[in-house]
Amino acid sequence: MSNSRSILITSALPYANGPIHLGHMLEHIQTDVWVRFQKSRGHQCIAVCADDTHGTAVMLRAEKENKTPEDLIAAINIAHQKDFKEFLVDYDNYYSTHSEENKTLSNYIYNQCKEKGHIVSRTIKQAFDPEKNLFLSDRFIKGTCPKCKADDQYGDNCEVCSATYDPSDLINPKSAISGATPIEKESEHFFFKLPDFTDMLKTWTRSGALQESVANKLAEWLDSGLKDWDISRDAPYFGFEIPGEPGKYFYVWLDAPIGYMSSFKNLCDRREDLDFDTFWKEGSQTELYHNIGKDIINFHALFWPAMLECAGFRKPTGVWAHGYVMVNGEKMSKSRGTFIKAETYLKFLPPQALRYYYAAKLNSTVSDLDLNLEDFVQRVNSDLVNKFVNIASRTAKFIQNGAGELGPKLDDEAMYEQCVAKGVEIAKLYEAREFSQAMREIMALADIANAYIHENAPWQLVKTAGSEEKVQAVCTQALNIFRILITYLAPVLPETAKDCIEFLNIKNLNWDEIATPLLSHKINEFKPMINRIDGKVVTKLVEASKEDVAAELGKKPEKVSKKENKKTKAKPKSDPKNEIIQFDDFAKIDLRVAKVLECNHVEGADKLLQLTLDVGEEKTRNVFSGIKSHYQPEELVGKNLVFVYNLAPRKMKFGMSEGMVLAAGEGKELWIMESNLDAKPGTKIS
Ligand code: 2FM
Ligand code: ZN
Repeated sequence: MSNSRSILITSALPYANGPIHLGHMLEHIQTDVWVRFQKSRGHQCIAVCADDTHGTAVMLRAEKENKTPEDLIAAINIAHQKDFKEFLVDYDNYYSTHSEENKTLSNYIYNQCKEKGHIVSRTIKQAFDPEKNLFLSDRFIKGTCPKCKADDQYGDNCEVCSATYDPSDLINPKSAISGATPIEKESEHFFFKLPDFTDMLKTWTRSGALQESVANKLAEWLDSGLKDWDISRDAPYFGFEIPGEPGKYFYVWLDAPIGYMSSFKNLCDRREDLDFDTFWKEGSQTELYHNIGKDIINFHALFWPAMLECAGFRKPTGVWAHGYVMVNGEKMSKSRGTFIKAETYLKFLPPQALRYYYAAKLNSTVSDLDLNLEDFVQRVNSDLVNKFVNIASRTAKFIQNGAGELGPKLDDEAMYEQCVAKGVEIAKLYEAREFSQAMREIMALADIANAYIHENAPWQLVKTAGSEEKVQAVCTQALNIFRILITYLAPVLPETAKDCIEFLNIKNLNWDEIATPLLSHKINEFKPMINRIDGKVVTKLVEASKEDVAAELGKKPEKVSKKENKKTKAKPKSDPKNEIIQFDDFAKIDLRVAKVLECNHVEGADKLLQLTLDVGEEKTRNVFSGIKSHYQPEELVGKNLVFVYNLAPRKMKFGMSEGMVLAAGEGKELWIMESNLDAKPGTKIS
């Protein structure tokens, strides 16, 4: 094909401390579908991935299992690769961040940053486990939640009430590793001076590489000022030692994205047709995409492009963020059996069913995707079995039992051309990662074919003497449309695509060739291709997933009562104007006492007052509030107000608003909500 593109695409590197689950699979399937589409259009599209092997979690898990980290990550790498292969996700290389290539490249990039003056060192204070002799990150400190008093909560957030806090707020904090009470200890850390790259990042984030909503979010951070990034960790740590700094290691997030490069480098060393520099040097004409979850945007869209720029490498053409997988409308849950491992899924269900369902729901936005298990069964059966495969299963036998080959002409050329023409739009939708729309378009064509078959009813026609030609023409029409549809579906259903190549007795499925129908062409026997899914199997899968969790914890699975089951199935319908929110959502709102230090009119704003609030932290909060018509600035100074502490900052015309003060009433009446005058700023309100 002319205008052939050279593309390198990656999926985020899965951590080497646990199995692949259906949440991971969304991203890897999304990447794989896109890659297969590009290849089917004649482009060079290389997909690489690897395991993300470094960090404390891997080190501790290895210790617990009495293994070396190297042995642990080797075993996990094999398991991960097996899962991807069985889901028909085909990486050109699946490597490891614990590799020579990654060490060399990490050192190179770090040294470049250092030579150019973008690394500084500072002494910082951190929680330290005096028994284990280990610095503790937030997630390795546990204690009682300061808000809801739930025991055994992590250092930075509570899983029961969803409060977020500082580890020092925890009641009775303990090291999650040894149980010792953490002490504070100083140590020297190395920082990457991210603010040096603010201007470049302001331009790059608006270059079209990011989804608009992502670019907008990043603009808030860029405008409010970037901070230096702590890239070092103290020994003991499983990772790469920083050159020239004994006992100091690269933080896992420094070498993880470099893993994209090293996986590709490792591939280049095996493939003569690929050149590392062509893809990675500054000024490269190739395309580079990173497909990631929305939780790791800052690493990919701030730190990573800055590091690349600094070391003379090209920046990504696109960083694509997707949302999370929800199951039955809720977060994947171990106790409900909806935390489903890839391996467990495959014991019960075919990989292509999930590939299709994900494709049928994926678009290019960061919104979450709901894997609704009932809908999953229904959708796969209805679209793939009833609509798609049915076209062939209802017509193939009449060719087989008749002439054994397709007829010499189509019965309805206009319909055929309509299906061919739709390919242009479908290709654009694949390209833009609007897979759900692509699947809808394809199924609409399947509907046309089925209506045609239904109308012409070859099973009736065949009973009438002298209608052999018509039967052959009708089935030729249907099977030719079937060929078009599988050509469009092939990126999602690679296994079925292979079966169809065999059945249709053709060499491959090629978008350019479908304009010419298969006529007077012998086909092979039709064999069932996609089996209907039985809903009961899904129930078994959920039960098995509960058993997985129980096995992990060494106890029997809890039976979820019917009542609870129902509760998770039927979500309350909400009126968007008067939406019911669940308690869990409400509990996320962190209300605190805020003292008004300053209050001013805002020039040019009719309704707003600007408040400077003491929220019990060193840094004050700046808030704009629409209360000007009811309050004079001087009335408010010194008051204690009720403040929404964890509201995401909002960029307003007059500056950033970092939270919200609560007020009651509307129109003529309005009262700002005050809290006890004696309360200390920052006190939580519950
Ligand atoms: O969030 C994660 O699962 C990380 N292991 C992703 C790393 S992506 C890349 F930067 F390596
Ligand atoms: Zn709590």
